[in-house]
Amino acid sequence: MTDTSIHTRQGLPTEMQVLLRDYPREAWPDHPDFAESIQHWMGAHQMFRRLGEIVHTATEQVIDRTMDPEAYAKRLGQFGNLLVQNLHGHHGWEDRSFFPELAGADARFMQGLDMLETDHEELDALLDRLTGAANRYLKLSHLSPKDAQLELPGLLKETGAIGGFLQRHLTDEEDLVVPILLHHKLRG
Ligand SMILES: [Fe+2]
Ligand SMILES: [Fe+2]
Repeated sequence: MTDTSIHTRQGLPTEMQVLLRDYPREAWPDHPDFAESIQHWMGAHQMFRRLGEIVHTATEQVIDRTMDPEAYAKRLGQFGNLLVQNLHGHHGWEDRSFFPELAGADARFMQGLDMLETDHEELDALLDRLTGAANRYLKLSHLSPKDAQLELPGLLKETGAIGGFLQRHLTDEEDLVVPILLHHKLRG
């Protein structure tokens, strides 16, 4: 049976790679239909990966005491908020308008698009947990810095989970979607 779970799958399931075999990742940049809008969409993914890393690394650093709590609180507030808001906007648009467009262009990939939508539901839950943990930390950092510190291991767990999630989801999403766009010249 196809493993579509974000927690256990090792990449885009083989039966969803029908077009990826004809349009391998290495060949995308030179493809004439690799349009600017596709590059921007992938650029957004790159920004999410980067924001996730910034927040996770900063959390490790404040735990190791190589970053002071004030600088950390600022960084967490700023970059954590950017990550959460932009991700919600991005995947909301994918569910509402981008994936239906792709499904209309090529019905062979319905299962793959459903898999990505299920990822998005999981992502919502992850983002809610991250937001909750970050807000608790930020509130306590004003009221009681000592208690704020106790929140850090839980927060680190959430920032780590987001990083792992994004690594899998964004790569599989690109491997499914970009070949469909190129094959059907959807953005060229
Ligand atoms: Fe995306
Ligand atoms: Fe997505």
